[in-house]
Amino acid sequence: MIVYFDNAATTVLEEEVVQAMLPYLTEHYGNPSTLYSLGRTTRAAIEEARKTMAKLINAQPGEITFTSSATEANNTVLKGAVLYAGVERIITSPTEHHCVGHTVEFCRDYLHTEVEYVRVDKNGNADLEHLSQLLAASDKKTLVSLMHANNEIGTMLDIEQAGNICRQYGALFHSDTVQTFAHFPIDVQQLPVDFIVGSAHKFHGPKGIGFLYMRKQSKVASFIHGGGQERGMRAGTENVAGIVGMATAAKKAYDHLETDKAHILSVKNYFKESLLSTLEDIDFNGNTDDRSLYTVLNVSFPPSDKSALLLFSLDLAGICCSGGSACGSGAAAGSHVIQALGKDPDRVSIRFSFSKYNTRDEVDIVMEKLKETFASRK
Ligand SMILES: Cc1ncc(COP(=O)(O)O)c(C=O)c1O
Repeated sequence: MIVYFDNAATTVLEEEVVQAMLPYLTEHYGNPSTLYSLGRTTRAAIEEARKTMAKLINAQPGEITFTSSATEANNTVLKGAVLYAGVERIITSPTEHHCVGHTVEFCRDYLHTEVEYVRVDKNGNADLEHLSQLLAASDKKTLVSLMHANNEIGTMLDIEQAGNICRQYGALFHSDTVQTFAHFPIDVQQLPVDFIVGSAHKFHGPKGIGFLYMRKQSKVASFIHGGGQERGMRAGTENVAGIVGMATAAKKAYDHLETDKAHILSVKNYFKESLLSTLEDIDFNGNTDDRSLYTVLNVSFPPSDKSALLLFSLDLAGICCSGGSACGSGAAAGSHVIQALGKDPDRVSIRFSFSKYNTRDEVDIVMEKLKETFASRK
């Protein structure tokens, strides 16, 4: 039996989504750029999906671009802002996903963009005072890129406050919303954001499809050149089945958001309480209050031989979760996020992340394995 507690990495594809996609993998195979009926059918499906996605975040359909992934969407924003929108400076944080962090480094190293990092505290909260100071210190055209929620530790940004600060200083604001889109309501008429992104496989949709929301006034251009698909924003024949699957999954997620959230949060809290009442010296990485994703619990285990082998022994027991420590004790590549928190590098950090399909019984299975591993009760 598999216990799947790695839903921040990816989620299982829903049957309803598979059914919605199937016709576009079989009989509706026309290229959406063609003018005959086979192509018009797939074009119509794409535009319907675009309307669905736009409505979910209160955007205009023309503000949605479909991409191959959130990685591509984030690359489009960051490189596009520098190459085409006159951005000379990027302010970001040290705890961004690599698809933002490494792209910012690319802009610094190859496009000569000035880069500044906002300080984060020991729970990974971006220091918004520091953001204001950095923005006030230069007149250069600036893009701020701060993720809405951290995928490793679950810490959430006050996106509204961050966006308002950016507005105050005339900076463009990009937020990587991969872990929050389809998990939290997002209304771009209310939120002062210029760019947000999403990835279908994080909310029970297919892999290999994502989207970029770009506010009408904040245009950047594509770094992928070719045909005129996606109004010139993203060349390449569209992944029609993926697009249809993403819109179906997103709509379903938003239709059931509150009930799913309550269930997932109860599983997370049950796990948290079980850990604290059963094992010695348990700590958590990231916020533990409501400024945290209800889907993510990053547990910090005390340093020991048992902890070092924990991920391995959980895997042997059929339990899927993700590692990520601060790269202490000569471990291979550590997590840049855990490192940025400045925590004890010898502790072992494991991310458990949940979906609506997880249950308390699964938590009990994981707890049994952890108890067996540590064999030390309070
Ligand atoms: C916060 C965050 N940003 C970006 C990505 C990349 O998404 P994709 O798999 O669509 O490239 C991920 C996926 O792990 C993520 O968690």
